[in-house]
Parts: sequence; structure tokens; C-alpha cells
Amino acid sequence: MEPYWLCGKLVDYRGLLGEGCLRIAGGRIVELSKIPKPGEGVRDYIGKGVLVAPGFIDIHVHLRGLEQSYKETEETGGWAAARAGITLIVDMPNTVPRASTPDIVALKLADLSKAPVDHSLFAGIPESQDLEGVSRLPIAGYKIYPNDLLELRTSKVLREWRGLVVLHPELPESEMIIEEKVWSRGILRGCWMEAVSLEVVASVGPVSRIHVTHASCPATIVLAKKLGYSVDVAPHHLLYDYRDGDGCMYKVNPPIRGSGEKASLQQMLLNGVIDAVASDHAPHALWEKSDPLYCSPGIPWLEVWPWIIHRLVSARALSLGEFHRLVSRGPARILGLKDYGSLHPGARANLVVYNPNIRSRFEGPRHSMARHYPSIMQEVSGWPVEVIVGGVTVYYMDQPVHAKPGINPFTSRMLSRPA
Ligand code: NCD
Ligand code: ZN
Repeated sequence: MEPYWLCGKLVDYRGLLGEGCLRIAGGRIVELSKIPKPGEGVRDYIGKGVLVAPGFIDIHVHLRGLEQSYKETEETGGWAAARAGITLIVDMPNTVPRASTPDIVALKLADLSKAPVDHSLFAGIPESQDLEGVSRLPIAGYKIYPNDLLELRTSKVLREWRGLVVLHPELPESEMIIEEKVWSRGILRGCWMEAVSLEVVASVGPVSRIHVTHASCPATIVLAKKLGYSVDVAPHHLLYDYRDGDGCMYKVNPPIRGSGEKASLQQMLLNGVIDAVASDHAPHALWEKSDPLYCSPGIPWLEVWPWIIHRLVSARALSLGEFHRLVSRGPARILGLKDYGSLHPGARANLVVYNPNIRSRFEGPRHSMARHYPSIMQEVSGWPVEVIVGGVTVYYMDQPVHAKPGINPFTSRMLSRPA
């Protein structure tokens, strides 16, 4: 692709940077200049009422695939992300079969390359004999689920893997609870479980970097910070409480909590304590969400969530710079990707050009296969005009552009990875 210039009102985690032009070549931002140099193509957004920002990063998505391709696939989920302006996604390993052996992890990574956006995977905690084989693959790190927490294989990962380990902060007992009412699930799967799960990990004395995804309780965030762990929150814990809706559409793990927890999470977000927002996009088939007793937990956010969080910017509660830190720079730092989440020269040219002034209702997903979107979560503020991955347009004026420039950023980092 020929080098080109993208001009507009630039913004990233530092806030508004003013009008300027990015020179894009070889999939990267290579230069920042007030005006484009002559002789090269220019895409000019100056004076069009839009902002040019780093693409969003979602470090917690369930794209399913394999035997659960009836719920979502790497391709449908990848396009859902592209539509929302999310240009890097990290998939989760609670697939069927579980992505915790070298073969299945390699298969999942291959399937993820069908996404139009950049991608990687957190591997499940492997049995000892598989650890070396999985660690050699371009994964973003490992994921601890409640059922892994007390197992020796988890201690081995925490003591030996020098990369990132992400923790779902609940206890194995939580998996035995079948109570369905949103408010009583909040009590049975109480906040104490989150805190204890962090203490269990800390007691191993990990050499891994620990990230907690997703904290639903303020005390979990306080403890995570005390232990030196990074932490994200999901949009549903931040914006809703159990009075907003009941029943299966609102069933999610950890549960949506009370108004006090919600208010406190919001304060922590506004005070800059939280490292990132991540969706926990958890798609299921409609029939799985319709069973009144055993219905599957999860909310499928991927195609819209950044624009629901952006409501906080429109309401002047969250600054523009903080918004971009939470949805792109913060997640890039958690992943250890210095060349993501900013407009610094050298960064990967993953960009979202968006109109911050649009107010609309999200009418439901176009790409994601999940149709169980809770109706109260539809009010959006802002929407992308153009979404760019590695310098290539994948979405323009709310229409997909059939290009697949997505890469796994961990592939090129394999050589520099510590043993
Ligand atoms: C997730 C899923 O469906 O995979 N569901 C959820 O409620 N969060 C599982 C998980 O992230 O724990
Ligand atoms: Zn999840």
C-alpha cells in the first residue's frame, strides 16, 4: 500500500492534540506533521466535526468458534469489533474444547486470523506437560478461571510464566450456584469471593504480571492495587445495577451488583484508579438465554460498548483523554504492547475516526450472532465514520470494507520473549 496522510482533529490518551496529519506507511504511523507533504495521497477530515483517535482495544471477548460456532465465530465477532471501532481483540479460552493444549491453542490462533482486526488469545491454564508447548505460541498470556484457581497447574504457571496472567476473580464454589434472580445472585456470588480469589493468587507469590478482569466490586479494585495488579471493569458493572433489569438477559458472571457498588466503581473510574474497560462480550444462542433456570450467563457487547461508555464523555463526567486511556492506551499497557493505543510515531496504524456528537439508539448487531442484547443498554453517544487496521480501512460510513489486514501482535514479539 502506498504511504498516505490522514488529517483531522487528533486525540489520544493525552487528550486533544489539535489539528494535524499522520503519515501512514507499512501499517504504522511514521510521522506527525501540521500539514501533509506534497506528492502523497491525503484523506482530509479537518473541519468535518470528527476526531481521529487510536483504535479501541478489548482485552476480554468470547468469540467462541470451534464446537460453539453456533454462538459466535472469530469472523462474526471480528467484524462486530470492527464496526464499533475496536481494532485489537483478545479472545478467551473457555471454548469447547478448552484452548489449553498446544493443538487447540494453535487452532484458535489460526481461526482468529479470519477476523479483520488485530487479535490474540489468552490460553487456558495447561496441564504441566503442555505448558512449554503453549508458551511457545503467540498468546497474549494465560487466563485463570474459578475452576483453575486451586489447582497445582495454576501455581506452576504463576511461578514460571513471566508474561501476563489474567484472573477471573471468583471462586470454584461460584460455579455451583444456580440461583437466577439478579439481586440474589449478587449476594450468593458475593464480593468476598472476588477478594479471596486475589488473595489465593497472591499467596503463590507469582512471577507473572497479574491482571484482574473484570472487577465488579470496589473492594476488589482496592485490593488489586494494593497487590500491584492491574484491573479492568466491564460496562455492565459500571453503568447498571440489579434494579435496571432482571432475568436471564441480565445474568452475567460476576453478577450485576447494587447501586452502591455501581456508584463506587464510577467514582474509581473518574478518579483514574481503573486501568481499562473491557466488554466480556459473551454471546449465546437465544434458546440458551431463554431457559428460565439454567440460562447461560453473559452479555454480548462487542458491536457497541465503547459508544455506551462514551456517554460519560458527552455527560462531561469523563475527560476525552481519560476515555481514550481506558479504551485503548490502558489495555495496550496491560498487554505490554508499547506500539498500540496512541498516535505516537511508530505506533501501529490502528485508528478510529468518529463523530462524538451523534446520539442514537443501537438497533442491534449486524455481525455478531448473539441476539440477546438487553434493551435498556441501547442509548449510544458517538459513532465511527472510518475504522482503520494497519493503515487499511475495514469499516467506512457504517459499512464493512472487505479487507482483512488483522495481525497477531504477539507473533513478532516471540523472539524477544523471556524464557
Ligand atoms: C462468560 C461466558 O459466557 O463465556 N460468561 C459470563 O457471564 N461472563 C464466562 C466468563 O467470562 O466467566
Ligand atoms: Zn468472560
